[in-house]
Formats: sequence, C-alpha cells, structure tokens
Amino acid sequence: MNILLLGSGGREHAMAWKIAQSSQLTKLYIAPGNPGTSSLGTNLSISANDFQSIKKAVLEHKIDWVVVGPEDPLVKGIVDFFAKDEQLRNISVIGPSQIAAQLEGSKNFAKKFMLRHSIPTAKYFSVTSENIKEGIQFLRQLSSPYVLKADGLAAGKGVLIIENQNEAEQELKSMLEGKFGTASKTVVIEQFLTGIECSVFMVTDGKNYKILPEAKDYKRIGEGDSGLNTGGMGAVSPVSFADKYFMQKVEERIIQPTISGLRKEVIVYKGFVFFGLINVDGEPYVIEYNVRMGDPETEAVMLRIKSDFVDLLGGVVNENLNEKEIEIDERFTATVMLVSGGYPQNYEKGKEISGLDKVEGSIIFHAGTALNDGKLVTNGGRVMAISSYGKTKKEALELSLRNAEKINFEGKYFRKDIGFDL
Ligand code: AMP
Ligand code: GLY
Repeated sequence: MNILLLGSGGREHAMAWKIAQSSQLTKLYIAPGNPGTSSLGTNLSISANDFQSIKKAVLEHKIDWVVVGPEDPLVKGIVDFFAKDEQLRNISVIGPSQIAAQLEGSKNFAKKFMLRHSIPTAKYFSVTSENIKEGIQFLRQLSSPYVLKADGLAAGKGVLIIENQNEAEQELKSMLEGKFGTASKTVVIEQFLTGIECSVFMVTDGKNYKILPEAKDYKRIGEGDSGLNTGGMGAVSPVSFADKYFMQKVEERIIQPTISGLRKEVIVYKGFVFFGLINVDGEPYVIEYNVRMGDPETEAVMLRIKSDFVDLLGGVVNENLNEKEIEIDERFTATVMLVSGGYPQNYEKGKEISGLDKVEGSIIFHAGTALNDGKLVTNGGRVMAISSYGKTKKEALELSLRNAEKINFEGKYFRKDIGFDL
C-alpha cells in the first residue's frame, strides 16, 4: 500500500509514526511534511491545498490512499476533486466530502444538522445583517457570558466569549461587519454551557464506526488555563470523566445520531470525526464538530492505538470497519508542547534546537521545525510535541516534562500542568 499523508504538523508526524509501523505499508509520502516526518517516509514539497500538484504526485508515485490531516483541503473539497477526476476516481481519500466538511467549515450548518437529528448542543440563533434585530433579542434573553461564533473557518480565533451584554452586542455588529472577513458574515449566538471539555474521536466508513481513545487538550498559553488561546499546549489520554457511562451516552446520543443523520441526508463521510464535547453535570453536549483529528490530541491518541492503523484505514476504504478490531493501550499518555517564546503573539523563528539526542523514553513529534544548513531550527509557534506513556497520568506527564527540560532552543516555553484539572 502506498499512502500519501497531507499536512505538516505534529498531528501529521504522529499519524506518520503510526502508519509507518504497519506491515501493510509499502511506501509513505507526506506532503509537505516536516523534518520529523522525513525519517518515516518521503516528504514532497507540495502544499496540502494544491490539488493539481497533489494529483501529479499521486499518479507519479502510484498512491493508493490519501490520508488528509488538516481541515483546509477537506473544506476546499479534496474528496470531491478526486471523485470527479477520471484518473483519480479509484484512489481513496480518507476524509469527508466537501458538504460533510461543512460540519467544521460552517458553525451554522453544524448547528442546523444537530437540531435536525436531536443531537444535544447549546441553544443557538444564527444572525446575518438581515435579522440582526432578532439576533439582539435572542442575545438579551440569554444570561452572561455570551458566546459569539463566526460561522466560517477563522484560524481558531472566531469564537468570542463576552461577559458584558452591551459589549457582546457591539461585538456582534462588528463581526457582521467583517471582523473575521467573510467567516463572520453569519454569526452563531450560543447559550453558554458550564462544564469540562474533552475531545472524542471516531473513524467511520460511512456506515460503521470505531471510537478511538479520547483526549483532553489544553489551549491556553498559561498554567491553570490562563492567558491567550493557542493551537494547543498539550494533551492527555484517557480522560477520567469519560468513563463507560459517559461514553455510552456519547455513543447513543451523539455518535450514532451523527452517522445515521449523515446517511439519511445522503452525505458521504469516510474519515475521522472529532467531537468537541462538554460534560455538563454528567451529560455530554457537542460544542463543535471537526472533520479531522485534533492537534495536539493526536500526539497523545496515536500512542494508545495498539492495532495496525493502516488495517483500520483499510476498513474505511473498503467499508468493512465492522470487521476490524481496535485494540487500545491501557496506559496513560501525556503530550507536552514546546513553543517559541512570545507565542501565540509575536515570536522569532530560526532558533537552533539541541538536545534531542538526550531524550529518553518519550516520543518526539515535530510541528514547527525546519532544517537550515543541516541544522534543526524552530519554524513556528508550536515547535514540537513530547509524548510519553505512564502507568498513571502523573507518571506520563513527568516523563514528558523531564525530556522537555533536555531539549533546548532560545525562548523555549512549555506548560508543566497538562492534565491538572482531571
Ligand atoms: P469552538 O471553536 O466552537 O470549539 O469554540 C472554542 C472554545 O470556546 C471551546 O473550546 C470552548 O472552550 C468555548 N465554547 C464554545 N462554545 C461554547 C459554549 N456554548 N459554552 C461554553 N463554552 C463554549
Ligand atoms: N486541539 C483542538 C483542535 O485540533 O482543534
């Protein structure tokens, strides 16, 4: 099996690491990949959004399956692009169709879908410049804090949570006027839910599904979940409150209605679903759908999948996931992200990274790194993820932290409290 994996982050390095362990793999290509993935396969310097170049590479390297890491190519319709192309039609792309990718690409689409299929989620109202009066009325019926979401993709910045009602009304107007460009031409106003969040993942062939290990990510830059939002500072798996009772509710109320809803609406979905959930007094609600795996959750989750990942992907391609077994490692995993000083605001790139040879017992996944004259340097805000196993969450975290101390680059920062709230 020749596989092309699209993407370049820690998530893709972790997926490549798992794919490369499979006896079913012939050759792995990653586009564009990063210095970490280059030791597991062949990096192709092609953007994950450049469909024409991807087509050329797929034909040239006789790719059988394409695995899509990030949401962008999915929302832009890579699955439909392959399905419509004579030469690509028989190549399987693991990811949802463009319309299904709207579950992530449009908050309004996702909310309407959940409403149609009675999937538990916060009450909401969708506003455009046409019905702003009704939007303000809805907002005034809610109690503080107010949740405003840009409908479209806004690089993870499109959700505002505001205490003050007047301020929320002002923000609503500025969003509709283009604060997040076309992404906020429609704004979803939501009831605020109080609880603790977790990320549940499944993979589906459109009929059958397998639930992957759940995880919790830590988005704020500061310890104790303080400060600015980031792409994610770490993750742990499993999540203590996601016990079998909670997961049974998730499966019955959320996962199964999602699959059957997609089928009823004849929406093709073969790929990963990431349910961003919140536990409100023991009851799961959907905060968001994502049509891909999470980052940095994947860097913790891949370690816990014992079975052959390529075999599992084969279940998606051949629509026989029901015949596959997924074996989960009982151990805990913890991922700590090393980031550049200043991130998520201004930071410098090109800082030399040293000490990787001193790492013991953890697995390193590159995110924002590059090679400069043969030297490994920082090339992004999130630089690398350090993932470890442990008999307990504490043991896994301590191992990641010990190794985090050994890797050095100017301005290095990481959170030491990943998993603190569980
Ligand atoms: P989203 O991009 O929809 O995941 O929202 C970003 C973050 O905002 C989530 O991870 C939550 O922490 C928070 N959030 C979103 N919607 C709600 C809500 N209805 N109630 C409480 N918090 C929310
Ligand atoms: N860790 C959250 C995300 O990938 O969106």
